Amino acid sequence: MNSSPCPFSKMMLVCLNERPAGEPSCGGRGSKAVADALKKLVNDRGLKGTIRVTKTHCLGLCELGPNVIVYPDGTLFSGVAPADVPAILDKYVKPEAK
Ligand code: FES
Repeated sequence: MNSSPCPFSKMMLVCLNERPAGEPSCGGRGSKAVADALKKLVNDRGLKGTIRVTKTHCLGLCELGPNVIVYPDGTLFSGVAPADVPAILDKYVKPEAK
């Protein structure tokens, strides 16, 4: 076994879990669009090697979803829509001045 420092300063976990109809789930509330938007913006800002966006299964907070958890901060963003993605990223990385 080897161990080394993690190459990413942030891990952004986006729950894509889906549950049967009538049960709350991030996937059922459109979290794939959130993950896709987050990945695109990370790439567009040249942060791919710094911030890792990872699609996950259930984070245990289904009623609050779509959920994104950021580590090592331990911040939970809930009820996230694709339109919220720039604000999430801006919290950690200042947008480039135009
Ligand atoms: S379905 Fe996303 S937290 Fe459970």
